Amino acid sequence: MNKELSQKPGGAVPFISLKGIRKVFPDGNEALRGIDLTIEQGECVLIAGANGSGKTVLMQILSGLMKASGGEVRIRGKLLKRDKRNFTSLMKEGILAGLVFQNPDAQFLGETVREDIAIGPINLGLDKAEQDRRVEAALDASGLREKAGAAPRSLSGGEKRRLAVAGILAMDAGIVILDEPFANLDFPGVVQTLRVIRDLKEKGRTVLILTHELEKVLALAGRLVILNRGALVCQGKPEAVLDRLESSWGIRDPRQSCSGVKDCTWN
Ligand SMILES: Nc1ncnc2c1ncn2[C@@H]1O[C@H](COP(=O)(O)OP(=O)(O)OP(=O)(O)O)[C@@H](O)[C@H]1O
Ligand SMILES: [Mg+2]
Repeated sequence: MNKELSQKPGGAVPFISLKGIRKVFPDGNEALRGIDLTIEQGECVLIAGANGSGKTVLMQILSGLMKASGGEVRIRGKLLKRDKRNFTSLMKEGILAGLVFQNPDAQFLGETVREDIAIGPINLGLDKAEQDRRVEAALDASGLREKAGAAPRSLSGGEKRRLAVAGILAMDAGIVILDEPFANLDFPGVVQTLRVIRDLKEKGRTVLILTHELEKVLALAGRLVILNRGALVCQGKPEAVLDRLESSWGIRDPRQSCSGVKDCTWN
């Protein structure tokens, strides 16, 4: 049962709309069982769920990296097709989703950190001055300035994660998806990532965070969505969803270690 705990007034075309999204892998594994979800522009949504609940698969479908077995993704009403021309136009409109991978190694293409960050701005066809401006800003925002000349493969796990975030910042994607953004990060890394998330929110970007670590970030989210075994089982204001947690969903209520949702951040 999908417990819909809050509903925005309808009418307008939603910014992102997922309808009936299903994913069955060739081995018969049914990873997503018909997900309906709409997200408004500028929302910060936290998507939680136990290991294997379908978070990464869902976000790969939303960012166009993976084909769904059924259902549709629309961005501003426009059907997302896995087609290069479609991606280029979405990118130019600034509404393509930038996904920071759970395992960022596969994401790096540049010889150095600086070159890697520049790939997005180059692909966007920006002039050199704007490319440089974005790369320098992303180096600062991610705390990687000292590593600008290093090879991405030589970075530590946490530094790789910072680099993945820097690449997305430099693209200035309209939708930013962070898959387990706190994995491998030390305390300053978590604080820096939270600052990046706050900045994205202030700039009006739509931010989707996939994580188990609710206690680090829930205070920044306007909505909490829970996936369980490939189904969306509950969504709404964080407080209301936490009040209805079921033990079978495999989520720990972060209020056990914070005095309330507002304290659930390391910022
Ligand atoms: N390429 C694949 N082939 C077969 N099954 C897959 C494939 N990729 C993912 N799955 C399965 O889909 C389900 C959902 O996986 P997904 O990676 O989305 O989980 P998740 O919620 O992101 O988990 P985690 O918290 O561990 O990151 C899992 O059962 C997984 O084994
Ligand atoms: Mg995952």
